[in-house]
Amino acid sequence: MAPQNKAKLLLLLLQLLLLLTVLPVTAKALTIGVNYGATGDNLPPPAQVAAFLRDSTYITGVKLFDANPNFIRAFANTSISVAVTTPNSAIPSLSTPSGASDWLSQNLLPFLPATNITLLFVGNEVLASLDRSLIARLVPAMRCLSDALSAAGYPHIRVSTPHSLGILSSSEPPSTGRFRRGYDRAIFTPMLDFHRKTKTPFTVNPYPYFGYNGRTLNYALFRPNAGVFDSATNINYTNMFEAQLDAVYSAMKKLGYGDVDIAVGETGWPSQAEAGQIGVSVADAEAYNGNLIRMVNSGLGTPLMPKRTFETYIFALFNENQKPGPIAERNFGLFNADLTPVYDVGLLRDPAVQPTPAPTPTPTPSGSGTGSKKWCVPKADASQTALQNSINYACQHVDCGAIQSGGNCFQPNTLQAHAAYAMNSYYQSTGRHDYDCDFSGSAVVTTTDPSK
Ligand SMILES: *[C@@H]1O[C@H](CO)[C@@H](O)[C@H](O)[C@H]1NC(C)=O
Ligand SMILES: *[C@@H]1O[C@H](CO)[C@@H](O)[C@H](O)[C@H]1NC(C)=O
Ligand SMILES: *[C@@H]1O[C@H](CO)[C@@H](O)[C@H](O)[C@H]1NC(C)=O
Repeated sequence: MAPQNKAKLLLLLLQLLLLLTVLPVTAKALTIGVNYGATGDNLPPPAQVAAFLRDSTYITGVKLFDANPNFIRAFANTSISVAVTTPNSAIPSLSTPSGASDWLSQNLLPFLPATNITLLFVGNEVLASLDRSLIARLVPAMRCLSDALSAAGYPHIRVSTPHSLGILSSSEPPSTGRFRRGYDRAIFTPMLDFHRKTKTPFTVNPYPYFGYNGRTLNYALFRPNAGVFDSATNINYTNMFEAQLDAVYSAMKKLGYGDVDIAVGETGWPSQAEAGQIGVSVADAEAYNGNLIRMVNSGLGTPLMPKRTFETYIFALFNENQKPGPIAERNFGLFNADLTPVYDVGLLRDPAVQPTPAPTPTPTPSGSGTGSKKWCVPKADASQTALQNSINYACQHVDCGAIQSGGNCFQPNTLQAHAAYAMNSYYQSTGRHDYDCDFSGSAVVTTTDPSK
């Protein structure tokens, strides 16, 4: 190769390298999950949420607080991973092999493998319930569910249970982290042993929001601060989230399980609270969640767990208007109920396709799409099953009397025609967002009036 060409090649390579290093954070494959709670009376239907997450965000996983079949089904045929949670009250019956396999048969197997269920949480913050009959059966239930999943052919679905940081009797500085006495060897040793053997994560819900004060706000929000020094390890912690994870790690290590993975089941920051509360605003929530996403996607790990990664679920996907308690409880969401972002932490795919606030659904949807210039119709190659599923789904939300026997639009009596009516009614009634015309990939938006 001529020297000039070599120089050119080198320049090209350098340019390429430069290009790679200045790409925005969202150009990388972000991995972040969200808690999809639904304590609200104004939230969109699950299928609309699933299509929105798939098409308009970089969110890769959702965590459900229950095993609601409508929510699990909504994520079918999307690559979005789903974490399902069993009720706490089911734990005693789940701690027998037959109870565990019955529960799976009724609640998960019907949706596998169409829904990408990757985690099964056994209850939520069970130790905080202080209910001895549940706590004593927790690890046996985890073992039984794990065995039942393997027996059913789904050994890759991991079993875990989320803990509040109340499981620690000491956490500051992080090197002093230890589990509460009485639970350490009786509960956590066998639980961590289960996690090690099954290669599943120990799940915790660290909330710097519940631990900050006026002095430690910047430390909690990952903003520049003086740091908190741990003299036992000579580590200067610069944010509370890493300090909390390292406290959990220290507790695990004291029992001999420092190698077990840690997942973050919940963490977050509200964007609104009672007037006068410092540290709560849209900018503060954006700082916490934005910096958290950068931290867990950096691959750098924490001071005591260098290079470890933490599967993380932000709390929460939505502002939930029916949550009881202080104002903050209803304002942890990344999104409003109309799917507009409360703030953007880099999880929106293309600002150009961000939804505008959805108009309130019209009570009498028009099947012919009167007054609109866009219609939702089935794809020509959609399968009979897909058409039927779409009809079933849409008709749970809109009135489909017209395509029932005797109705105005019953003729032509074909699945294709009925699906066209149902899909379009749904699409028109929810405000004509393209993501409402998905129906698991079996529908498409058209500008040609299908009734002509
Ligand atoms: C998912 O896709 C499969 C295969 O195309 C199909 O049989 C199934 O009905 C779909 N499930 C849902 C809920 O859309
Ligand atoms: C299921 O989700 C996991 C985690 O996000 C992902 O790695 C995997 O590719 C997904 N599987 C499918 C079949 O989409
Ligand atoms: C800890 O780090 C912060 C930020 O880099 C620095 O300002 C502070 O002086 C450090 N404190 C100690 C004790 O090293």
